[in-house]
Amino acid sequence: MLRRPRRNRRTSAIRALTTETRLHPAHLVQPIFLVEGNNVRNEVPSLPGTFRLSLDQVLLEIDECMQVGIQSFIMFPAVPDEHKDKTGTYGYDPDNFYLQAATEIKKHFPECCLISDVAMDPYSSDGHDGLVRHGRILNDETLPVLGKMAVAQARAGFDMLGPSDMMDGRIGYMRRALDEAGFSETGIMSYTAKYASAFYGPFRDALDSAPREDEDIPKDKKTYQMDPANRREALIEAELDTAEGADFLMVKPALNYLDVIALLKGNSKLPIAAYHVSGECAMLLAATRNGWLDYEKAMPETLLSIHRAGADVIITYFAKDYAYLYQGKSLSR
Ligand code: PBG
Repeated sequence: MLRRPRRNRRTSAIRALTTETRLHPAHLVQPIFLVEGNNVRNEVPSLPGTFRLSLDQVLLEIDECMQVGIQSFIMFPAVPDEHKDKTGTYGYDPDNFYLQAATEIKKHFPECCLISDVAMDPYSSDGHDGLVRHGRILNDETLPVLGKMAVAQARAGFDMLGPSDMMDGRIGYMRRALDEAGFSETGIMSYTAKYASAFYGPFRDALDSAPREDEDIPKDKKTYQMDPANRREALIEAELDTAEGADFLMVKPALNYLDVIALLKGNSKLPIAAYHVSGECAMLLAATRNGWLDYEKAMPETLLSIHRAGADVIITYFAKDYAYLYQGKSLSR
């Protein structure tokens, strides 16, 4: 045998020379679920180890993350029902606790990157990302709501906005609204290829944001989120988001869509983000809690696979844990 690939795997030093992909914690974004109140740490039952936190706890959490090298956060609000209505007005109400929290976080941690969520579902009594009328999700009528949310979030101090709604034309609409209001420096991380996935369950539990059960309300999000069977369609969304001014393109979920991540990476010059969503994290946690998989090995391998597929940025509930392991520290999870 002239060729023996195993020679390059013989020692740890040689393997280190030939490692093709390394995942540094700087590529990771930690999601944060925010609730109103003080001293609240409320674990999400379907996502053990992830908590709904009040602002004081969020500040502690961000501090801890920053110390191990996680400096980017994407925050979602768990909004009490009394603030919800059909048009999501609380989303851009100056008294909104989510907007106020963003201002406070940026005051304490001006150097962190704080990413928002732009979509109606946390604020909508119907539980959809757009306005619902006669059993349909309205597109163009939803855009002004998203525009108002975007400007309010930029004003509150978010560094980057994360439109997760999948309405057509939203990136351009938001970009213009932001620029007109003087926020040309606020970025947009677009949920470009967001699929109508079964893996968002724990997230909807955390925020209580699932579509309301009513015969006049669509039960799923299939008329706006993408069909899991489609790949080329992601290129259409990428083309539009790029033309409309997005700064990052995101694929969501991540693990079941590694091919889509690779496709966008090969077809775009923009940085590619992947959202390792709640259900994907829950699967791994369930197996490790049962003793069927080793968390400290399976979790980093999972994140590495998303990076190897082409994601420059990975949003994952495991970001802080990964950073601890990366620094050789032990985990409590
Ligand atoms: C909604 C939104 C969802 C997620 C992020 N933003 C759920 C949905 O579309 O129903 C899911 C994230 C996760 O599962 O971790 N705008």
